[in-house]
Amino acid sequence: MSANRYLVSFDARTAYHRFADVLVVGAGIAGLRAALEIPDDLAVLVVTKDRVTESNSSYAQGGIAGVRSPEDAFENHIEDTLVAGDGLCDRAVVEHVVREAPAQIETLVRWGTKFDTENGELALTREGGHSHRRIVHALGDSTGFEVMRAIIATARTAPNLTLWDDTFTVDLLTHAGRCVGAVVARNGAGKVLVWARQVILAAGGCGMVYRETTNPPVATGDGMAAAYRAGAELRDMEFMQFHPTVLYVAGSARYLVSEAVRGEGAYLRDVHGERFMPAADDRAELAPRDVVARAIFRTMERTQHPNVYLDLSHLDPEMVLRRFPGINRVCRGFGLDITRDRVPVRPGAHYMIGGVTVDAEGRTTLPGLWAAGEVSSSGLHGANRLASNSLVEGLVYGTACARGAAEAARREPGDLAALPLKYVIPPADPTDRLDVADLTASLRSLMVRKMGIVRDRGRLAEAEKDVGFWCRYALAREFDGKPGWELQNLLTVARLMIDAARRREESRGTHFRSDFPARDDARWGLRHVVAPPANPPAG
Ligand code: SIN
Repeated sequence: MSANRYLVSFDARTAYHRFADVLVVGAGIAGLRAALEIPDDLAVLVVTKDRVTESNSSYAQGGIAGVRSPEDAFENHIEDTLVAGDGLCDRAVVEHVVREAPAQIETLVRWGTKFDTENGELALTREGGHSHRRIVHALGDSTGFEVMRAIIATARTAPNLTLWDDTFTVDLLTHAGRCVGAVVARNGAGKVLVWARQVILAAGGCGMVYRETTNPPVATGDGMAAAYRAGAELRDMEFMQFHPTVLYVAGSARYLVSEAVRGEGAYLRDVHGERFMPAADDRAELAPRDVVARAIFRTMERTQHPNVYLDLSHLDPEMVLRRFPGINRVCRGFGLDITRDRVPVRPGAHYMIGGVTVDAEGRTTLPGLWAAGEVSSSGLHGANRLASNSLVEGLVYGTACARGAAEAARREPGDLAALPLKYVIPPADPTDRLDVADLTASLRSLMVRKMGIVRDRGRLAEAEKDVGFWCRYALAREFDGKPGWELQNLLTVARLMIDAARRREESRGTHFRSDFPARDDARWGLRHVVAPPANPPAG
């Protein structure tokens, strides 16, 4: 993939510089959990591209999975995760995360998270793919908001932690094959070179590569693309998870309708009022997400109707309103009463399962760089993430990265001050005559049409050709602000996704090829699709 190593030019002799022991890129659950685990004697700088409250984590509705009830057991949560992952999970990773989940939930409680309770205990709900009730939640259906409120408040009291919001990480700095910091743009454009002994990447996902997504506008794959340009390995980029139920009302943002709604008993019905999930899978509405999303897609095709419906009308209205106040508020805004009316929904891009390859400690293949959360690929989710396993992954891997990075920062202090003058990156092509908004919209719409829930060789080849063409002229340019850099990152990520989807000639988890409709263990087994190396190699 031919592209510039850095998206922007800079001259280290005249740039602003900043030094930190550990730089954390991203302030969602993984980034702040990592930052809070770094011992007080190490200086931590956390950068986030928007307000600190504006991460995918804050929008999480359902909750955090962890075994807490005496009827449940770690083995059940492990098994459910492996089944959902469709043969591609790393069992050791699954066991580790599942066993650590309860302690991480306790840490959140210590930091002031007010989870919903029932008879004095944390209330537990169920979601697709879970054999038991094991999901803790808060404010009914606004778990991420409450968890992030508590974490952000805790982070603000940490003496060694500096938080820069409105700071876009344009690229990771590398020197002699190591990650040594990042070039960031503060408040729109002012470039700063941040030099760090260790860098933790927790920059989240890339749902914005699709026109239909549950993700907030910040989710443009910046961390994945920057790690790729810096030479880190990425894998499993074909596995974009589509959430089955995204509100589909003209004029609404694509608002998530939590899986917990089905966990509490809601039905899915087609336009004629028929339930279609019992015929699609024994687990009916509580089948794993990939199964439900595909069944909805087929139902929409069969009925020639642009959506299906969630029906909660048979459930206790008091329970519905208590459990789903946020969903109720949003639906009310469109004149829908969720206790009576059917709620129009369809699948939307939700979670990137692939990302920067990490080992059990969160170490990437690029020395000095660690990664946690959605930006990474740890092996926990396999080919399809089990609901409510993402926040817990961010917590467990954020903690692990921080421990590893802190130890490495002490072990390999290096002379950061000797590095800055080595860098003079010349300007790339100018940006004249490129309509960034138009190209971004074209890309997002192409991804829905050609790289959506059902894929095949022909559509993937067309997608590859179009995106390749766009990349040739858009990645060669230098932009001077966020919209252009985000477009370049979306294009980079889209190209990796399409390439991986084309190469995986089987169907597994979230990746469905109508020309290879079966899972092919003989050929694919536990194989990951690794992204081709970036070109030119990291400097
Ligand atoms: C949901 O509430 O359905 C989303 C939970 C998740 O993505 O794990």
